[in-house]
Amino acid sequence: MSLLSAKYSVHVEICLKPNENRLEVLEKLLDVPVRDYITLVKVPLGQSVKLDENILESNSALGDLKLVESLLVECEVKHIGEFLNEADLKHLILHFYSPQRRIMELETFDMESGDGGDGDTVPASSHWLLPSSNFLQLWENLIYEDGLKEKLLKFALSALIFSQHSVNPHIISCNRLLLLHGPPGTGKTSLCKALAQKLAIRARRTFRHTHLIEINSHSLFSKWFSESGKLVMRLFAKIREIVIDPHNLVCVLIDEVESLAYARNCMSGQEPKDAMRVVNALLTQLDAIKEHPNVLILATSNLADTIDLAFLDRADIKQYIGMPSVAAIKRIYETMLTEMMRIGIIKRQSLNEIDQHEGLLSALAERSIGLSGRNLRKLPFLAHAVHTASSDFDVDGKIDLCDFLDAMLEAIEQHHCDQKLMKS
Ligand SMILES: Nc1ncnc2c1ncn2[C@@H]1O[C@H](COP(=O)(O)OP(=O)(O)O)[C@@H](O)[C@H]1O
Ligand SMILES: [Mg+2]
Repeated sequence: MSLLSAKYSVHVEICLKPNENRLEVLEKLLDVPVRDYITLVKVPLGQSVKLDENILESNSALGDLKLVESLLVECEVKHIGEFLNEADLKHLILHFYSPQRRIMELETFDMESGDGGDGDTVPASSHWLLPSSNFLQLWENLIYEDGLKEKLLKFALSALIFSQHSVNPHIISCNRLLLLHGPPGTGKTSLCKALAQKLAIRARRTFRHTHLIEINSHSLFSKWFSESGKLVMRLFAKIREIVIDPHNLVCVLIDEVESLAYARNCMSGQEPKDAMRVVNALLTQLDAIKEHPNVLILATSNLADTIDLAFLDRADIKQYIGMPSVAAIKRIYETMLTEMMRIGIIKRQSLNEIDQHEGLLSALAERSIGLSGRNLRKLPFLAHAVHTASSDFDVDGKIDLCDFLDAMLEAIEQHHCDQKLMKS
C-alpha cells in the first residue's frame, strides 16, 4: 500500500425541491443524471449552485434534474472555488436530501409560582428536524481558516463511527462532546447548527432522522432555581423519548454553557442547594444520555475560563473560534457583495477582474481586523442606510460597486468611532 494514499472523497449534496416522491425513489432516479451533470458542467467547489436550466432543456437525459433545487460539491483536498478534474470524478459520493419545511418547535414547561399566583411558562428547549430549510447554506456561509469546519465535521463523524461500533469506553474514551469557545459573534452557535445539519445530510444512510435540540440554558439556570432541577429531568425525559429509537440521531446543543458555571457561583446566594442540584442534574443527565450511541452533544461558550470544570473535562475537543483573519474577512465581504449584486441593489461587476476594486476590498478587509463575523455581516445594511446618497425610495436604482465600497469603508470607520465612545 502506498504511504501517500490517494484516497479521498468528493461529496455531492443534492438538495431536492418539495416533492411527493419518496427520497429513496428519487435517489435511484437521479443518481446517473447528477453524475452526468457534474461531468458535463464545471461546478465550483464549496458553493451551493442552481443547475443551468439551458443545459437541462437541451439534454433530455438530464430532464429529471428539474427536481433538484441546488447542488453543493465539496472535496477535502481542494479549495473553495476550485473545480474538479477528471480523476476526482471517480471519487463522487452523492447525498440526496429534502429539507424539512416544518418550523422549529418550542418546548415550554409550565411552572408554578411560589406565591400562589398564576405561574409562568418557561422555554426549555427548541427542536428542529434536520436537514431543515432554516439552515440551508448556513455551513457554506460560515467562513474560517482552511480546514477548521472540515476538522469539526471529521471529529463528529469519527465520534459517531466509534459509538456505532460500540467501542469499549474503558479502553477508548470518546464522550461525543464538542465545545466551541471564543469571543461573542464569531459564529459558534451558527456553526453548531450548521454542523448538525451537515451530519443529517452526510449520515442519512445510518440515521433516518436527525433532531437538533437546543437547551435553553438561560431559562434553566436563571430565575427558576427551585424548580430547575425538575425542569432538567423533564427535559431529558423528552429527549430520551427520541433517543430511544436508534434510527434517530440526536444533536443536543447547550448554548452558552457558562451559565452553568454562573449557576454554581450563585451558590453563595439565596438558593445554594437548588443551584447545586440543577447543575448536578444536568451533568448526570448528560452522562446518562451519552450512553446511547446516537447522541452528540454540542456546546458553546463565550467565557471558557468560567465553565464548570466537571463539564470541561467531559469535552473530547475544545475548539477555539476567534475573530476572522484578513483572508476570511475578505471572503465574507465577497459573499455579501455578491448577494447585494444578486438581489440587484448594487450593479453587477466582477469583484476579481477590476483591480481597482480588489485594492479597495483588501483595504476594507485590513481596516476590519478585530470585527466579529456578526459585526461584519451588519455592515452592508449600515453602509446603505447611512452612507449612500439617495434618500428616495427608488427600488430600481442600482449603486455602483465602487461607491458602495466607499460607503462600506465609512460604515467601518463609524463602527470604530462608536466602539471608542462605548469604551470611554
Ligand atoms: N466566521 C464567520 N463567517 C461568516 N459569518 C459569521 C462568522 N462569524 C459570525 N458570523 C455571523 O455572525 C452571526 C452571529 O453568529 P453566532 O453564531 O450567533 O455567534 P456566537 O454564537 O459566536 O456569538 C451569524 O449570523 C453568522 O452568520
Ligand atoms: Mg452564541
